[in-house]
Amino acid sequence: MVHVESELFGRTFDDFLFRPQRGVVESRRKVELSSPLTSALQVSLPVIAANMDSVTRKEMAKTLALEGGVGIIHRGMSIADQAREVSSVKRSHGHLVEKPLCLAKGATIREAMIFTRKHHITGILIEETPGSMKLAGLLSNRDMPWSDAERDRPVEDFMTPVSRLVTASPNMTSAEAEKLMFERRIEKLPVIDENRNIRGLITKKDLILARQRPYSSKDKKGRLLVGAAIGAHGDYLERTAELMNAGADVLVIDIAHGHSEVMKEAIEALRKRFGALQLIAGNVGTGEGAKFLLELGADAVKVGIGPGRGCRTRLETAAGVPQLQAIREAYHAVGGAVPIIADGGIKNDKDIFLAIACGAATVMLGGMLSGTDEAPGHVIIDPATGQKKKIYRGMTSPEAVLQSLYEADDAESARAVLATPAEGQEIQVPYKGSVIDILNRIRGHLASSVSYAGETSLAAIREKIVPRVTEYLIPLSESAYRESFHR
Ligand code: XMP
Repeated sequence: MVHVESELFGRTFDDFLFRPQRGVVESRRKVELSSPLTSALQVSLPVIAANMDSVTRKEMAKTLALEGGVGIIHRGMSIADQAREVSSVKRSHGHLVEKPLCLAKGATIREAMIFTRKHHITGILIEETPGSMKLAGLLSNRDMPWSDAERDRPVEDFMTPVSRLVTASPNMTSAEAEKLMFERRIEKLPVIDENRNIRGLITKKDLILARQRPYSSKDKKGRLLVGAAIGAHGDYLERTAELMNAGADVLVIDIAHGHSEVMKEAIEALRKRFGALQLIAGNVGTGEGAKFLLELGADAVKVGIGPGRGCRTRLETAAGVPQLQAIREAYHAVGGAVPIIADGGIKNDKDIFLAIACGAATVMLGGMLSGTDEAPGHVIIDPATGQKKKIYRGMTSPEAVLQSLYEADDAESARAVLATPAEGQEIQVPYKGSVIDILNRIRGHLASSVSYAGETSLAAIREKIVPRVTEYLIPLSESAYRESFHR
């Protein structure tokens, strides 16, 4: 068995407090929370939205990335739908919209209005002929006529033609673009080459957002980071190809028992076909499991067998490892070589700090981000109490499996899952408003934890505290537990 300190054996989050250290932080806002996500990617808030159908689709993924974390789009849907979710996140922000949406000359104002509403955009590039990508002009919301009588006239009657448009060349820097847009008081700057071919679009909204949120998780082109989940059999290779095409930055190969032959074959096949994609693999609950994934070439190891809010694995199978022990085992087995993601069982903000202090680089959250506006699903009003609620469910709950059976084009594997008894359940959680408030709270509490630990960054925690965390952990008696957590 991989070594784990006896203090952590059989232990989980509520078993400890962290011994406060002499503080050196002047202001919580200055605490650095950056952490590695994989061997090549970094996040500035160590929070990942779980790939669950009641947690992460594009809305959650966009918000998480804007706030400095990352979201993993779940896989309980067809390949085409999942790829569309990924590409919507990638298109939503960037230094430059690479393939801006265009309408061709000849389209009517009515069509243009429907187009802007459908795609949530405030201006349309007009191309000479459909698909030509040769810029003819720009039709902004302000150009749209008010009168109903003009709705059937063509867009070229109202657009600003390219001869009067301010445009940029493909090699203009962001700073130059910003200066030009301010000087000319424009909100949209089409990027074209010397033959008027459309090469992109720079928008004021994106430039401002980049300034306001320097901490957002972005790729080299300034687009939001996004991950997507795949399985280990069935259509997973085809799914991977489409998700990578759509721009996914990282894939999560997510199966209940990651320390398995199925995982080995899947990672080998993925590496053979796709080479150096960023791959998170899981889940495992032991040091041996973590080492197994490291040796297979995972870029991050996801740890957690059965601690999750919607999980019944431990109840049904007796398989599992208390989550702090599991994180610590993984740390001793692979810590330093690749980042560890602590997945499941995090109920309070303090658990995030404990997971990191014991060796995790980031945490994956399901239940804590559920019930929010950005989580998929409708708000239900309890007829008896009037309370607002949303659904949260394990991905192997009968409800989630049935849904994926309905949505996926891979009915065969969904049916196979359905044939095995459920290890997940569905519950109702209170409606919580925007996830941004939850992330702000997490950010603040995590910064406070770092401050109480006598450091100024999570990097310092990883360097100075993680290797000897047991010197800082105070095991709780039952009355100390009550004194701490019963309110
Ligand atoms: P939390 O505690 O944050 O956990 O809600 C989220 C994690 O739970 C896992 N998960 C499951 N585990 N059966 C399980 O045993 C399930 O049906 C199930 N669905 C999700 C998953 O690792 C997720 O990130």
